[in-house]
Amino acid sequence: MSVWTRDVPVEGTTELPPDPRALDALGRNHSLETALADLVDNSIDADADRIRIRFIRHRTRLVGLYVVDNGTGIRPDTIDAAMTVGGRRNYSGTDLGRFGVGLKAASFSQAASLTVMSRAAGHPPVGRRWLLNRSRRDYRCDIVTSDFAAAELDRNWPVPTNPSGTVVRWDDVVGFPSTDDPAQVEEFLTRTISHLQGHLGLTFHRIITHRNIRISIDVEDTGLGAGIASTVNALDPFAYPGTPPGWPKELRADLDGTPVVLRCHIWPGRSNLPQYRLPGGAEQRQGLYMYRHDRLLHAGGWEGVHAADRRLQLARVEIDIDGDTPGLFIMNPEKTRVTAGPLFAGTVARARAQDGTDITTYLQAAEAVWTTTNQRTTARRRPVVPPGRGLHPKVTREIRDELPQLTDEPVNILWKALPDNQFIEIDREANTLWLNRNYRAALLGGRRGGLNDLPVLKTLLYLLAENTFQGAHLGPRDKDNIELWQSLLTTAARAERAAYEERR
Ligand SMILES: Nc1ncnc2c1ncn2[C@@H]1O[C@H](COP(=O)(O)OP(=O)(O)OP(=O)(O)O)[C@@H](O)[C@H]1O
Ligand SMILES: [Mg+2]
Repeated sequence: MSVWTRDVPVEGTTELPPDPRALDALGRNHSLETALADLVDNSIDADADRIRIRFIRHRTRLVGLYVVDNGTGIRPDTIDAAMTVGGRRNYSGTDLGRFGVGLKAASFSQAASLTVMSRAAGHPPVGRRWLLNRSRRDYRCDIVTSDFAAAELDRNWPVPTNPSGTVVRWDDVVGFPSTDDPAQVEEFLTRTISHLQGHLGLTFHRIITHRNIRISIDVEDTGLGAGIASTVNALDPFAYPGTPPGWPKELRADLDGTPVVLRCHIWPGRSNLPQYRLPGGAEQRQGLYMYRHDRLLHAGGWEGVHAADRRLQLARVEIDIDGDTPGLFIMNPEKTRVTAGPLFAGTVARARAQDGTDITTYLQAAEAVWTTTNQRTTARRRPVVPPGRGLHPKVTREIRDELPQLTDEPVNILWKALPDNQFIEIDREANTLWLNRNYRAALLGGRRGGLNDLPVLKTLLYLLAENTFQGAHLGPRDKDNIELWQSLLTTAARAERAAYEERR
């Protein structure tokens, strides 16, 4: 075996430009929400304060999507650089852009065609189009006619694109439903717009609030015009009512001259506010929130500082980072996550507040607030037999949080065949509330069943019948109740089944 040497000898170079198919790999981690956030980044960098996201529906089908802004626009001499993958410009200290790929990666992850039309003040409108299928073969980008670019910019947008503004257009969006069924399209739109409001409201909450930026979403029916717009409201994960005394605290550490500041917050208790129950669920949203230039890059998770724990759900830490910092932070190109480097956990462990508080003390305090506030609400409530199999895990977890638990065997809610005149059976021996399988398909209404199916029905039954599993034996009152439930529920189940069979 030869000895290891540091230097690798070379005998020339060969030019290897990337194959155009490399574009395929761009933006693979994007969802529609995160991709649109990337376009909103660009609008904000262009100093826009009005941004409209618009879905286009032709007859019953979704055919396209626009993002329109009143920013400074793109000049004819910079449009080619803007459309180039990796075409970086000189970024200012507060810009959200960084890699020169956002627009292209976000768009290609969602659509087969990206058209950008823009007008900078005092310049003629310009437009370019990338067709993903063709760009797999070469790097040819279409030059859109100036007339069409002008016409698209001057469509009747609620956002002024004169003297300057930009229209980004996606056609053949992969995530759109490929159906003409108006009900399914409507459902898709309702769900998607609500997800978008949540994601954009969270990602840009500081910018929406501090810079007074209006982002809104609407749907245009071709030939009919646009419907009512949904506004994206700021969703500030730190906007809690009141606050436990002494919090938040700033824990500071230093890594070779780079300051790391952790603003450690404790929510005063669990809450129904949307900024507590963030998309993904409050429990998943404990931990670190990392911002770069006021844009949220990372929303929750402890990144090796600590393991996630139900009892830490009131703990949220604000950190401002300036992009990548060797050993500490690496942001992913989709700007949806920051990975903590190998030096991060150690740096956090060294961080101290002025009064000496460290991360361990903070986490203990957050857990203590959770325990006391949780006990305060649960103490007033009647203890229950814990939920067992058959209930949705999220419901189970919530029942455990909300109600004091007896030490009894958990109660299951499961299906089995029963006589037709019996929708339920309370089986105290097996700790199971049986549901009659013969009604299952009708109740599912054609959807697929599973162990945790029909969560609403099962949660209601749990609330109704859980206490019949308590105590040594059933009292006469319980027996009478069960008889009553049996007869009403069986009638209801039969009605469901009749309606179901009629539909088929
Ligand atoms: N809405 C817009 N208004 C004005 N200029 C835009 C707009 N969208 C894109 N641009 C121009 O296109 C360039 C490329 O955008 P792109 O998102 O691909 O990269 P970036 O923003 O520079 O960096 P990053 O990859 O971090 O997003 C931008 O730098 C900007 O000059
Ligand atoms: Mg960008």
